[in-house]
Amino acid sequence: MPLLSLPACCGYDAMFRAGLKPTTSSSRCRSSRLIRSHGGAPDHAPPFTQPNSVKVPPSPGLKKQALSVQDMSRALKSLSSDLLQRFVDRAYSFSEEPSLNEGNFRPVDETDEAVSLSLSSLDGEEVVPADFPEGVYIRNGPNPLNPTQTVAGSVFGSTSYTYYEGHGMLHAVYFSRSGGAGGWEVSYRNKYVGSDTLQLERRKKDDGVAFVPSVDGQPYATLAAFALNILRFGKAVKDSANTNIFEHAGRAFAVTENHLPYEINISNLSTLGPYSVNGAWNQPFTSHPKKIQGSGELVMMGTNTEKPYYVLGVISSDGERLVHKVDLKFEEGKLIHDIGVTKRYNIIMDHPLKFGISRVFLKKPLIENDMDGKSRFGVMPRFGDAESIIWFDVKNHCSYHLFNCFEDGNEVVIRGCRLLGSILPSGRHRADKSKWYGRAFLQPDKDSEDFDPSLDGILFSRPYEWRLNLENHSVYEGYITSEKVAMDFPVINDKFMGIQNKYGYAQVADSLETSKTGLFKFNMIAKLHFDTPDKENEQLIFVEYHTLQEQQFCSGVQFVVKENGIDEDDGWLVTYVHDERTNISQVYIIDAKRFSEEPVAKITLPQRVPYGFHGNFFYTSNQR
Ligand SMILES: [Fe+2]
Repeated sequence: MPLLSLPACCGYDAMFRAGLKPTTSSSRCRSSRLIRSHGGAPDHAPPFTQPNSVKVPPSPGLKKQALSVQDMSRALKSLSSDLLQRFVDRAYSFSEEPSLNEGNFRPVDETDEAVSLSLSSLDGEEVVPADFPEGVYIRNGPNPLNPTQTVAGSVFGSTSYTYYEGHGMLHAVYFSRSGGAGGWEVSYRNKYVGSDTLQLERRKKDDGVAFVPSVDGQPYATLAAFALNILRFGKAVKDSANTNIFEHAGRAFAVTENHLPYEINISNLSTLGPYSVNGAWNQPFTSHPKKIQGSGELVMMGTNTEKPYYVLGVISSDGERLVHKVDLKFEEGKLIHDIGVTKRYNIIMDHPLKFGISRVFLKKPLIENDMDGKSRFGVMPRFGDAESIIWFDVKNHCSYHLFNCFEDGNEVVIRGCRLLGSILPSGRHRADKSKWYGRAFLQPDKDSEDFDPSLDGILFSRPYEWRLNLENHSVYEGYITSEKVAMDFPVINDKFMGIQNKYGYAQVADSLETSKTGLFKFNMIAKLHFDTPDKENEQLIFVEYHTLQEQQFCSGVQFVVKENGIDEDDGWLVTYVHDERTNISQVYIIDAKRFSEEPVAKITLPQRVPYGFHGNFFYTSNQR
């Protein structure tokens, strides 16, 4: 989920990065192509050379003197590093935020090897459909290395890690046909995303944390944490890489939007290295880039605390070139999570979830939503610039995710899940988080005497539609489903990305359970029929539900396309499901056309899979 990015700005960054490379170089040279072989070079910066320079052998004396200066410089840096580490060890005390380490939010260990799952031995429930595609279902999510050391106290005040900062861990289920009678071989493995900062934290794991928590805290404590992290590691916060895993050009990338994506070899979940589009992109990268139907290009963006605050990019279909890069000239840092596309346009979200280091100097929270601020959508030609965007003011909101966008006559239609508040407590409610959680996630009662519009129901996320008229610049907007049901993490059949679609799917929040800790729990999945009215249930469109059993919760819902399917909903929903009564995790396969019926397969996993964020299905056959 969204967090902070700062540029590497001191020599310590180079020192630590240089020290890390030997531990990862062997795995990073390996291809992660899914369907075809990887012909391109690994995405690493070329070695620095000066081909036209004249080499003059130094005299022995000069050489000796140069080495001596280098040695002294290295020694000073090492000494500084040691002193800073001693300062952190002595000045800070670390403690636990219990809710981040309870139940199925508690992290798990990596499995060393893939575990083969015996489908036939478990009551015949695990029947993978014969026409299910071969591939890998992967879900990303936070899995902190130091779950008992998430709150930092010092003379500067206190700071703490949020749930959204835990190191990314990938959970993968592999589906391959074993031949013979057409049966399936299914296996599971999990692994941390091997980010540079994960290596730093691992070195410190036995005697404390490396990065001081910084995102959520008192202003002076936040500043002190930033300064220490930047001085020691060149980064204010970690590369958590925990939010999503997306596909482009047959390659897989794990990402959180405060850093570059990390390329993943899906066959063994090893991390190959950061993806900078061959050096052309050097800043944050959204967790939700969008593939363009037809061209195969990837539209993405990055928001930052420093100028340029919002940069949009288009990556070539082979993933090797950045074919468009433009600064949208935002006037301040905004934390924007998603971007939309239609056939011709990029759809820009802009709402007042503000973030920036300068805010902390003014004693303001690093990240804060302005509920009295202004929201707008921008419609930008695919290869346009800041001046070519048509902006539409809409009712203020703080939404994270879009289902889809498409053109419909003179209108651009945007469907998403609308929130009113930040998922991090802010403003006057910041001090009392339990009150915040206890009211923000619940359905609001607007007739109640103590109804507070800045608090009640502001995180009760609901499907919403914005229609932007390109001719007269008018906007029509409104909720499209029942006011009684909260849902988010929307997905569609990706073949319909950017074009008009009939169906969307979303995870339904158990609002009561979620309100206890502020950590999302989802106990149903919804299928939205966008073209089917539903007056009977006082909502604009018809919604089907796939209900889980009591104390079962899902995460990472994704739509899997049926090979040779005809209808948009020819396919399956896959999801990780955890049963809190039995402490068993499974993967469900649900037929999208028989959505409310029992899953066609329930695959029991060899270990608990903690709740997490987004999932994706990587097709290893040639159907896509
Ligand atoms: Fe997301």
